[in-house]
Amino acid sequence: MATENRNIAFLQLEEDDQKPYDLLLLADPSRALVEAYVSKSAIFIAKLKDEIIGVVVLFPISKSVAEIKNIAVTPAFQRQGVGQFLIENVLAFAKNKMISKMLIGTANSSLGQLHLYQKLGFEITEIRKEFFINNYPEPLYENGIQAKHMIMLTKEM
Ligand code: ACO
Repeated sequence: MATENRNIAFLQLEEDDQKPYDLLLLADPSRALVEAYVSKSAIFIAKLKDEIIGVVVLFPISKSVAEIKNIAVTPAFQRQGVGQFLIENVLAFAKNKMISKMLIGTANSSLGQLHLYQKLGFEITEIRKEFFINNYPEPLYENGIQAKHMIMLTKEM
C-alpha cells in the first residue's frame, strides 16, 4: 500500500523488513518497550526517494480500537508536515480496517506533540500518572519539564 504526497510515499513495512530503530528510539528511548510493541504492530514509513524520513507504529488493541504507539520524523525533516502526513495516512488505513477509535499517548512535557495531536482532532481522555518515572531508568526532560505522566488522547473516527 502506498499513498503519494509531494514525492513522499507512505508504505507499510513487511514483517522481514529492517525496522528503522534510529527513528523508533527518537520517539521512545526504551528499546525494551519498543521491541515489545513493534513485534505486534503494523509499521509504516514515510519515504523520500530512497530515504526513510518518518515512521509510525499502529498497535491493535481490539477489533475496533488501535493505538499509535510511536511516531517519529528525521530531525532534518521535522516541522514540514511529515508527522501530520503520517498520522493522516495511518488514520485512513485504520478507518479502512473498521477501526473506530484511535489512541495516542505522549508525555506531559511533549508540548509540540500535544499541539499536533489536538490539532488533528485527538482529545485528552486519560492521564497515566508517573508512567515515565516507573517505566524508564533515567529521568527524561523536554522543554525544561520532567516527563512524568503519560497523557492519553483519543480520536473517534
Ligand atoms: N514544537 C511545537 N509544535 C510542534 C512541534 C514542536 N517541536 N512538533 C510538531 N509541532 C506541531 C505544530 O503544531 C505543527 O504545526 P505548525 O507547523 O503549524 O507549527 C504541527 O505539529 C505539524 O507538525 P509536523 O511538521 O507535521 O510535525 P513533524 O513532522 O515535526 O512530526 C513529530 C512531529 C513526529 C513529533 C516529530 O517532531 C518528531 O519526530 N519528534 C521527535 C520524536 C517524538 O517526540 N515523537 C512523538 C512521541 S509520542 C509517540 O510516539 C506516540
